[in-house]
Amino acid sequence: MVCLGNICRSPLAEGILKNKVNPDRVFVDSAGTAGYHIGNRPDPRSILIAKKNGVDITGQRCRRFVEQDFLDFDVIYVMDMNNYNDLVALSTSPDQISKIKLLLNAANLNIREVPDPYYGDEATFQQVFGLIDAACDAIADQLKQQI
Ligand code: 4NP
Repeated sequence: MVCLGNICRSPLAEGILKNKVNPDRVFVDSAGTAGYHIGNRPDPRSILIAKKNGVDITGQRCRRFVEQDFLDFDVIYVMDMNNYNDLVALSTSPDQISKIKLLLNAANLNIREVPDPYYGDEATFQQVFGLIDAACDAIADQLKQQI
């Protein structure tokens, strides 16, 4: 799960998907394309909205996406097209590019990108949670059929 800062959206996506899959079979992680917050906990607003929805993300720490991630992961979900373009720029093969997917394309929603909630309020964070949750429901269903 990849966003810009790895403190707002992708930590939510990591925590939400982890809660829906078997950890013995599916490894879920998150990272950011930028390095502003490396080592930090998720944004307090993400921690709070996760908690209100029954997801604990307090153990997560921010890290930056590295080229090795293209090798270590089968699918790389991004929150928006900026993330997509940033990862395409880091990639070194068509196979790597084919792993990058817009998270919300997993679900039948009429919105393609998870909005950046950094300058938003609690309602924005709840909207972001709902979008990510819907996509992760669809991903968990897909995974159950594959593995
Ligand atoms: P995220 O949100 O990409 O969902 O983690 C942001 C977090 C931090 C910043 C921007 C977006 N920032 O500019 O520091």
